[in-house]
Amino acid sequence: MADIKIQVLDNAPLIIKGEAELIDGEGKTMETSSEFHLCRCGLSQNKPHCDGAHQGKFESKVRTK
Ligand code: FES
Repeated sequence: MADIKIQVLDNAPLIIKGEAELIDGEGKTMETSSEFHLCRCGLSQNKPHCDGAHQGKFESKVRTK
């Protein structure tokens, strides 16, 4: 099994750590690195990656239960 970690933080993108494979809607592998951040605010101009546009404009508290 791959060792991949997905970190969810308040008001922030999903942080992916490890050798995850990111696949687009056509089934093609997208270029990534050993750590990348996926947008979850919808404001990025570089989706699915976070470009920092969320800063000060996105609020989402992570529930732990
Ligand atoms: S989460 Fe960073 S731009 Fe959307």
